[in-house]
Amino acid sequence: MNLVVGVGLRAGTSYRELRDLVAATVAEAGSGRVRILITVEGRETEPGVQRLAASLGAELQTVAPAELRRQHVPSPSERVERLAGTPSVAEAAVLSTGAELVVSKQKSEQATAAVGRLLSAPGYAPGERSVVHRVIAERRDVRQGFVDRAIPDDVLTRVLESAHRAPSVGLSQPWDFLLIREIATRRKIHDLASAQRDAFAESLPEVRRKQFDGLKIEAILDTPLNIAVTCDAGRGGRHVLGRHADPRTTWFSAAIAIQNLWLAARAEGLGVGWVSFFEPGEVGAVLDLPAHIELVGYLCVGYVEEFAPAPELVRSGWAARRPLAWAVHHESWGNRGLPGVEPTSIVADAEEAAAHLDRGAPGEGAPGTSAVGGSAPSPNPQSVRVVVGGEPADYLGRADTVVVQLGEKPAADFGVLWRPVRDAVEGVETGVELVRDLVLQGVTEIVVRVIEGGDVAAAVGRGLRVGARACGAGWSDEPVELSDSSA
Ligand SMILES: Cc1cc2nc3c(=O)[nH]c(=O)nc-3n(C[C@H](O)[C@H](O)[C@H](O)COP(=O)(O)O)c2cc1C
Repeated sequence: MNLVVGVGLRAGTSYRELRDLVAATVAEAGSGRVRILITVEGRETEPGVQRLAASLGAELQTVAPAELRRQHVPSPSERVERLAGTPSVAEAAVLSTGAELVVSKQKSEQATAAVGRLLSAPGYAPGERSVVHRVIAERRDVRQGFVDRAIPDDVLTRVLESAHRAPSVGLSQPWDFLLIREIATRRKIHDLASAQRDAFAESLPEVRRKQFDGLKIEAILDTPLNIAVTCDAGRGGRHVLGRHADPRTTWFSAAIAIQNLWLAARAEGLGVGWVSFFEPGEVGAVLDLPAHIELVGYLCVGYVEEFAPAPELVRSGWAARRPLAWAVHHESWGNRGLPGVEPTSIVADAEEAAAHLDRGAPGEGAPGTSAVGGSAPSPNPQSVRVVVGGEPADYLGRADTVVVQLGEKPAADFGVLWRPVRDAVEGVETGVELVRDLVLQGVTEIVVRVIEGGDVAAAVGRGLRVGARACGAGWSDEPVELSDSSA
């Protein structure tokens, strides 16, 4: 049995006192090996505690008082609360590791101890765990505020080592990292990105283009180092384990290496900006890549003045984060909700939110709307026409239009959304989800145009209207006969 021992102690408690107390407490647990010795932050420097951990052969962990206060313990003490600011140290420390308490608090003159049983392999200590979650939350795509400071080789090596430790299909490790510092090369790459930036701007509706003009999308010349991360789809030869049925796994592996790099860089205080305004082959030509090596990501890396608290695209109002509850489905597609929360359908959520808004309470956190800003007026009103059915070619000349195709899979085009809806219920859901996605991308008004006949297309139209109301977006119907010629 793997055990955790929690100890609380006054400063200066001797090793001998701690050893005897812990030995007696552990004996009550029966057999088992102490894997973790845990105490409140600050007490880990006590010589008695350090010696005890060493003699037990246990990992010494600490836990913050706030985390201790969150635990429900069987023997809370007012006295301990007065002294330590938490009603329990020993028992709460055990519980904070996720262990099951098997021996409740035992006391000596200056110390307390409790024992828990680990139900599975131990995770990291709470403080270390929170650092991992913190670096994930505070990683940013950085495109401005780089400072003129060289990246030491050892720092860069650590970051690349983390990237290189990424999981990969069949351990094929399909990535390579091309370090680019030469200004002449970076200028050529910058020219490619600028051309793609112009092309993208050209493709946008006017309101969106103005907004885009204010966004910086790369830092190729502002950073001392660019890293091109590549993928060799044939790495590992013919029989790479796990790749045979899904070749995409090779590119997934390279992308995961980039995420590792990004996180490690953040921990080192290095900003990373991923630039994808490229046709990959053009970058490959500038970098003289062998023809079988493909670009996966182009990264601009350097020290920065600061890391923004939220994504640049969120802060500028370009896009919003999608709530996690929308992305988690239970057992089958559509039963959404966080673990432990009764799943709901997005149609029910949207209907409720829309009814809430209809009752005249917009912007008050109606269900389903809070995360996308309810009906607060946007400084960048953006209208999108959603055409359900019809011939995509008739509409795609208009930058403010998306066409929803319900039947056969259409030719790939970002302006055409293929939604092979099977019945009216799915149709409403599809409409609601589509509006939610558009609103997250800054759309404030939906113009609904249902061209295709039948229940399913009508249901999509209904979903679009309900979704718009639920998200606090404006909406209108565009009659087919009147506007046919304007398309
Ligand atoms: C595959 C990929 C390509 C990206 N390409 C660009 C890009 O060309 N220009 C840019 O400014 N940001 C780019 N980004 C950064 C995203 O805009 C950014 O990750 C997103 O807005 C979330 O912000 P955060 O990374 O700061 O959390 C890219 C990100 C990924 C994952």
